[in-house]
Order: sequence, then structure tokens, then C-alpha cells
Amino acid sequence: MAEIIDTRIEPDRAIEKACAVLSGGEPVAIPTETVYGLAADATNADAISRIYEMKGRPRFNPLICHVSDMAMAEAHVTFDPISRRLAEAFWPGPLTLILPQRSEGTVHALASAGLDTLGIRMPEGFSRRVIARFGQPLAAPSANTSGKISPTSAAHVEADLGAKLKLILDAGPAEIGLESTILKVEDGRLRLLRPGGLDAAEIEALTGLPVERPEAAGATIEAPGMLPSHYAPGAAVRLNATDVHTGEALIRFGGKALPGENAAALVLDLSPSGDLREAAANLFDYMKKADASGARTIAFSPVPSEGLGEAILDRMQRAAAPRN
Ligand code: TXA
Ligand code: MG
Repeated sequence: MAEIIDTRIEPDRAIEKACAVLSGGEPVAIPTETVYGLAADATNADAISRIYEMKGRPRFNPLICHVSDMAMAEAHVTFDPISRRLAEAFWPGPLTLILPQRSEGTVHALASAGLDTLGIRMPEGFSRRVIARFGQPLAAPSANTSGKISPTSAAHVEADLGAKLKLILDAGPAEIGLESTILKVEDGRLRLLRPGGLDAAEIEALTGLPVERPEAAGATIEAPGMLPSHYAPGAAVRLNATDVHTGEALIRFGGKALPGENAAALVLDLSPSGDLREAAANLFDYMKKADASGARTIAFSPVPSEGLGEAILDRMQRAAAPRN
């Protein structure tokens, strides 16, 4: 069983223990501002293999490498001018950049699944302190079994992977609650590979350039992890619900009751006041609660598509997609 250390109570012991486990080539669950990550030494092939094994993750799906400062990033990737501006503006934070790897870089090819690019980001919060102390980038996917809902608390991680893990660092609920936005700059064009915790409109405001969405979802899988079915709860999922069927769990938004709610198994509101940030932070936890209610179907009422709504809707659609 995993040991759980509360980073708010024992920050120093948390860092020391995490670094010891990482040095031994074992993964550690760490809190980032987006979701909890399953982190391992990105330069150690055995350690990275353990991540893929623990998650049951296909090995063609590359991992994001997490760094604590620009110098660490620059040891492994090269920045074009636009990517550099984005990193300077939004790091530490929920933005992953896909950048060419340096030949001198020491991230193992297993982490990038053999690609010549690397997904890289500088996380906010306690995980950054762990990376700084460890002194090497940490490869970290979300700390959940592949295809399942990403964890936004240490308890989520424990329930899913606790039996396989040595150590979970607990920093409380993840602030943002959605994975990072993934962006690739190509020939001066900004391509959104995954909507996430950084609103694409903020990227457009900084650069003055449009953020291009893929033409059709799933047309080409640019971020290999973006399989249509992901974030799958056990229950079936019904989108755009305007009423509730008997026995369904309802996840709604904006404090507005739906017809039929009194026959629902459970009613949760992502943000009664209609705040998309609050909704993002609650989404995965509420999906897990709705699933645990035993309802056979989870109904989602509509959420606005602007701002963080884009990433929230993306996760809801993936939860509803036919399971692979
Ligand atoms: O917020 C996050 O990004 C969290 C926390 C832990 O940092 N991590 C996360 O990792 O969501 P994961 O493994 O669940 O998703 C990583 C995504 C996958 O869709 C993967 O295909 C894509 O990033 N990716 C990684 N490296 C890539 C690369 N070189 N080119 C294209 N896509 C890449
Ligand atoms: Mg994931």
C-alpha cells in the first residue's frame, strides 16, 4: 500500500521521500495544479516502463516531461520565439508545449515514445519543488489507470493505484482540475492538440495569432493520447440533457434545476454561480461521485463553450464516446 504524505504538514519529508523513491527508479504520485501526476525519472528507462505498466498505457502514447525552470527545459528542447514567449508568460502553469528535442538531451526515448519532439511543461505548486530538488525532468501522465477519469485528489489516486504505488504526495484538491492545454507551434502557426486548463483565448491575446483547432476531432491523432474514448466512467453518459430520466445521476451547471430532478439518483452542480473555473475544478470529482452513486447513466446538462468551457466539453464528449 502507498504511503501518503501531506505536503502541507510535512513538506520537507515529502520532498526527501519522493526524491529517494524516484532515485530508486520507482514512480511517485505528485500533486500538480492541473491533476495528480504519476511521476518518474524521465532519464531512466526502467522507471518510465513502470509508469506504462502501472497505468496499462499503450507505449505509443508519449508522456509529458515536467521541469522546474527554463534552464532544465533548455537542456532537453529548443524553443522557437513564439514558444519561448508562451513559456515566459504562462509557466509555471497549465500549458504543455510540443518542442523539438535536443540531441544532447537525456530524456529517454521511452518517455517520448520515440518521437523527435517532447511534450514539456513547468507545473505550478508542490510538484515543482520536487522536480527542483530531484534535479532532472519528471515524466508524468495523469495518475490514473489508462482511459479512466484523471485524479484531482490524493484519495482518487489511492483508490485507483494505491495498491501498486509506494508513495502519494497529498497537497489537497488540484486547483485547476483539468489537464494542461497542449500546443504545438509549427511554421509560426499555433495548433491546439488538447484544450485544457489554460484558456486558448489567453494564448491568442498574448501572441495576436489564432489558435487552430483540428479540422475534425479524431481525424488525425496528433497527440497520440487523444483517443476518442477517455475519461470513461463505468456508467453510460448522456450529453446536453434538458431533463432527467428516473435513476440517472445529473451533473448540471449554473444553478438551474432540470425537469425530473426529483427522480434522479444524485444531482450535482459544477458551479451554481456559473463560474467555469469552479466547474473545471469540480468536473472529475463529480464524475467519480456520479459513477459511485450506482446510477446506470450520468446526464450532463449543457455548459457554455467559451473559455475553459471548451476543455470541459472536450472531457464530457470523451466520457460519452463509445468505449475502446
Ligand atoms: O496537466 C497535465 O498535462 C497532466 C499533469 C500530470 O501534468 N498530465 C497529463 O498527461 O495529462 P497525459 O499523459 O495524461 O497526457 C499527455 C498527452 C497525451 O495526449 C500525449 O499523447 C500528449 O500529451 N503528448 C505527449 N508528448 C507528445 C508529443 N511529443 N507530441 C504530441 N503529443 C504529445
Ligand atoms: Mg491522462
